[in-house]
Amino acid sequence: MFESKRMAKVLFFILIFIGGLQFLPAVNAKEGMWIPATLKKHENQMKALGLEIPIEELYNENGGGLNNAVVLFGRGCTGEIISSKGLILTNHHCGYGSVQGLTSLKNDYFATGFFAKGLNEEIPCPGLTVTFIRKMENVTQKILPGISDTLKDAIRDSIIAGRIKGLERDYEYKTGMDATIKSYYEGNQYWVAITETYTDIRLTAFPPNGIGTFGGDDENWIWPRHTGDFSVFRVYAGANNKPATYAANNKPYDATKFFKINTSGYKEGDFTMVYGFPGTTMEYISSFELNQVYSIIDPISIAARTKKLNVWSNHMNAKRDVFLKYTSKRATVANGWKKWQGEVLGLKVNNAIEKKQAFEKGFQDWAIKNIREPYVKNILPQLQAGAAGVNDLIFQDQHIREEVFGIELIQQGVSLDKMVACFRGKFSESELRDTLQKLAKGLDWFYKNYDMETDKDVFASLMPLYMRACKQNLPLYYKEQYRKHLNSCRRWSKSVYNKSLLASSDRLLEFAKKATQADSNVLKEDPALRLYNEVAAIRKEKISPKVDAYKTIKHYLNRLYISAQMSYEEQKDFYPDANLTLRLAYGNVKGLDPDGPAGYSFQTTLGDVVALDDTTSTQFKVPSKLKELYKTKDYGRWGVNGTMPVAFIAANHTSGGNSGSPVLNNKGELIGTNFDRAYEGTMSDYLFDPNRCRNISVDIRYTLFILDKFGGAGWLMDEMSFTK
Ligand code: ARG
Ligand code: GLU
Repeated sequence: MFESKRMAKVLFFILIFIGGLQFLPAVNAKEGMWIPATLKKHENQMKALGLEIPIEELYNENGGGLNNAVVLFGRGCTGEIISSKGLILTNHHCGYGSVQGLTSLKNDYFATGFFAKGLNEEIPCPGLTVTFIRKMENVTQKILPGISDTLKDAIRDSIIAGRIKGLERDYEYKTGMDATIKSYYEGNQYWVAITETYTDIRLTAFPPNGIGTFGGDDENWIWPRHTGDFSVFRVYAGANNKPATYAANNKPYDATKFFKINTSGYKEGDFTMVYGFPGTTMEYISSFELNQVYSIIDPISIAARTKKLNVWSNHMNAKRDVFLKYTSKRATVANGWKKWQGEVLGLKVNNAIEKKQAFEKGFQDWAIKNIREPYVKNILPQLQAGAAGVNDLIFQDQHIREEVFGIELIQQGVSLDKMVACFRGKFSESELRDTLQKLAKGLDWFYKNYDMETDKDVFASLMPLYMRACKQNLPLYYKEQYRKHLNSCRRWSKSVYNKSLLASSDRLLEFAKKATQADSNVLKEDPALRLYNEVAAIRKEKISPKVDAYKTIKHYLNRLYISAQMSYEEQKDFYPDANLTLRLAYGNVKGLDPDGPAGYSFQTTLGDVVALDDTTSTQFKVPSKLKELYKTKDYGRWGVNGTMPVAFIAANHTSGGNSGSPVLNNKGELIGTNFDRAYEGTMSDYLFDPNRCRNISVDIRYTLFILDKFGGAGWLMDEMSFTK
């Protein structure tokens, strides 16, 4: 009796203790992606966590901060400058699209990798740009004065747009650089970024897919991870080190600021920072909006993409040329597909909707008592009613986007419209044929990466999803065609691709060459155009007007909502949602162990990579040269006591766009390159849970080892600056 009473007492205290622990904030993990110019107010906390340099080294009002070494790479990634000669380090998957443009069956860089042996071997990448952020300034006081909070968005937006334009022009005149003003906190603040965009960017090094995409989609968004997800480019400049279009005699960009590389590694708990361009987060939305993502948008997209990816994979595995055409597209489609699965899981295990609802209850009680801003109590009810009014339309729209427009032929149908228009012009027959041919040639970019047989299969597997889910709201044409083909989408698909001029470039050109005025009907009746137009009409007439109206009001209400949240939780430090502007996140190296003591370590090594080697799989086939280096432990100066670190995780708040971001130690030195997040933490775009959210990085020593020992590009090390 006594024994068990004592046991109960011990158990009671243990439970209290564990329960208590859960309420203690995780000391080091820190939610937030901060505007560099506001970091000063975090200095004490950052120093307490381990930062050893003044904030001014990271970002300096007067220029000269490390922000000058972080670039927006392309349209949606980050890169870091790692040498005085403009060398940029980013992810393999960020360079992938550009490298695809340089790749052919003959020069298959995905298979062989590419390592320039000197500046003269670097390859220009047309279309690729790199943007430096020279300075950021809070210009709210120049944008918002005199505009009341509750002014309707249409009027408000037009006043603001005018002010933004004028102010951007002033800044551009004053600085001789580009200026972009963006809204933060849903339009409660405005910041200007003074930027310079370089357009002569050249490829320096790109590991083969056996390293750069190792683990493929299986390991994407997963920890533990074994990918050498990096690539190296170089910025070239014209006269005076300024941006210039490509010219053979442009010079490597002379960088006054670049990251020093620290090769002594890190241990669990060490302070880390990620400096980069997170794209989109929605941390402050209502439960009603989150629920649209959680129960409508994500599930529909996941199911549709599962089908599409299966079809694509089958065709890609069967033919190398289909692989080369689809590999970049596939990576993009698969990336969202997997992320959303992690997101749904994370939102579920975190009871995210319930948490929001509980917060909203407290907020609403407070709002009702708030007499100074009486409109605040109406925000949530209006958001709720707005969402309820469009959920069914959002459902239909998501099916259309993913399933109907997920079929490339239908999405491209819109191009035929332009051709139809030619028949209305007052062209002679030969002018008509000329114009049609030009338009057909204009689609070369599309056909370069298109395979009709693959797409035909996609039609047969996606269309049934749409037909079933939206059967109450189908366009008449769809119903007729479905019936006509005996309710078989496969039959239907066959006839569409047999008939449509769009199905191949040759067919379209042939038509354009021979067309006469009498042929306009052939185009108008083309199944690709009909399929596109009929569904576009439903969107235009029935879906978009209501959904757009909802978005307008939601935008207006969300602006008021976040501003009200800031008064409701006065003590809290609100960071603005990501908007593809420069941010710094800080946290610490940390293993991932959300569900028990077994957990994973915070680091993987080359031994783990080789252990996964599977020569029969495209995703897990380790290049033989890498295996050789492993066998002989030939790691040069990059190994650590006979092991080669590959990837590591830390608790920094990152998002899509942070790919390629420099991961820094407490002195602002480079220790890795960010490239992903762990599956169970991808919901951090909506809700950050320090127990589950981890960013994944390539260890800088692995990058250097691959460049040096695998790629034989040791000459690059001479430009870099190392510390220990
Ligand atoms: N998940 C990472 C990101 O969002 C990496 C994507 C590239 N890798 C891949 N297997 N598709 O960009
Ligand atoms: N891989 C992502 C990107 O391309 C970064 C990882 C993330 O979303 O956290 O931006």
